[in-house]
Amino acid sequence: MLIVIIEIIAGFIFSAVFLVMAYLIISIISLVFIRVPYVNTPLSYIKKITPELGISSESVVYDLGCGNGDFLLEALKFNPKKCVGFEIAPIAYASAILNTFLKDKGKISLRLENFLKADLSVPDILYIYLIPRAIAPLESKLKCELRPGAKFVCVGSHMPNWTPIKEIILKDNYKAYIYQK
Ligand SMILES: C[S@@+](CC[C@H](N)C(=O)[O-])C[C@H]1O[C@@H](n2cnc3c(N)ncnc32)[C@H](O)[C@@H]1O
Repeated sequence: MLIVIIEIIAGFIFSAVFLVMAYLIISIISLVFIRVPYVNTPLSYIKKITPELGISSESVVYDLGCGNGDFLLEALKFNPKKCVGFEIAPIAYASAILNTFLKDKGKISLRLENFLKADLSVPDILYIYLIPRAIAPLESKLKCELRPGAKFVCVGSHMPNWTPIKEIILKDNYKAYIYQK
């Protein structure tokens, strides 16, 4: 009995160490090669933001740099037509597949692609959690390609030259900004 308990505890410790190591490796690879840190939005923030986006059964929702896909899963609760996650880092992409597998209701599609090459005239709602350096090249693409009425949310950073229609306080001075074309 004691041996079984020790094996279970050792299993938990091994899994926890494995997950922490995997997370650190993904973060370092993202930072070195893609120059955007792999940091997921805390779920509590996602839960505050998602109801403000007006997702309906007609909505096509994109996450530009979807990380582990947590936002897509939360968006799914609002019964959108489709959710698409773009991810350039293979390990983050694999974590999104694992995270959404069996929970995606056939509506989440994950693409191992650079979102700068995506057609942004398709989505109604976009989720963006990126550092300013990664946001800059997106700005003109959003201006050119988004269809009128499309909304996007930037978590933690402003989209320069756009005026938010709503600000959501996530913690102290940390906000998400919703914009509409
Ligand atoms: C800060 S994380 C955000 C993850 C997720 N959206 C969230 O909020 O939890 C940014 C992600 O964007 C990805 N990324 C950065 N530039 C990208 C690009 N040009 N195309 C696709 N993914 C990109 C990174 O690999 C990273 O996983």
